[in-house]
Amino acid sequence: MEKHKIIQVRDLTVGYGTDIILENISFDVLEGEIFIVLGGSGCGKSTLLKHLIGLIPPLSGQINIDGEELSNCDETAFKNILRKIGVLYQSTALFGSMTIAENVSLPIKEYTDLPQRSVDTLVKMKLNMVNLKGYENHLPSEISGGMRKRAGLARAMALNPKILFFDEPSAGLDPVTSVELDNLIIHLNKSLGTTMVIVTHELQSIFNVAHRVIMLDKQTKGIIAEGNPEHLKDHSENLFVRNFFNRKSEN
Ligand SMILES: Nc1ncnc2c1ncn2[C@@H]1O[C@H](COP(=O)(O)OP(=O)(O)OP(=O)(O)O)[C@@H](O)[C@H]1O
Ligand SMILES: [Mg+2]
Repeated sequence: MEKHKIIQVRDLTVGYGTDIILENISFDVLEGEIFIVLGGSGCGKSTLLKHLIGLIPPLSGQINIDGEELSNCDETAFKNILRKIGVLYQSTALFGSMTIAENVSLPIKEYTDLPQRSVDTLVKMKLNMVNLKGYENHLPSEISGGMRKRAGLARAMALNPKILFFDEPSAGLDPVTSVELDNLIIHLNKSLGTTMVIVTHELQSIFNVAHRVIMLDKQTKGIIAEGNPEHLKDHSENLFVRNFFNRKSEN
């Protein structure tokens, strides 16, 4: 059976003012896959992500998230979409004056009217899921960088999103912690079936986690490779793409 296209991007053009960053790109993200957006610094990965979560409207083109057209939806439809997605920002964006548990409870309180006891139970479950049991009452400054990422992940997953977006999840992490985070991402994807869209320019984790990737290119403002990284490594028609995968995978 063909997999559901949970995100459909068609002829998307994005940019700032008159500065076009990506032009006429089209791709699909399939339900349940780990999809990685890669490419060099400044090629527009974060910009694309911001469009996919509705933070910035496109210059032209369509973005469809699980059946809802993002570009021309009303407020109710937009809220509906937001309810289905979770985002882990590069900086984690945890509130420094709130405990880890309070941080994770924020979206639950905002989007549901569950009594406090149920919120507490949910928060505990989410923190267990990312191996942060026992850290409920710590402040973000009292835990390590890797733990903060996991706390951010717990918050992003608080409402059981169908799609999780990550911008540079391993940025600022040491290699070991970074591998641990990759393994957690793989585990959550397998156990919950959550679709993961991960933006990165680091290649180390791509072969470990990605089912499919797209590679963006600053020069052509387009997609220069799309598919499974192991396949692209040997079979991409683009020499730059082959070199890119081979260089890093030998490290
Ligand atoms: N708010 C903004 N206003 C104007 N230009 C911007 C803005 N944000 C990004 N840009 C420009 O858009 C281009 C793409 O930036 P973007 O942050 O999407 O790249 P990136 O692929 O995420 O890079 P990196 O790997 O360094 O994070 C860059 O040239 C950047 O200077
Ligand atoms: Mg970026």
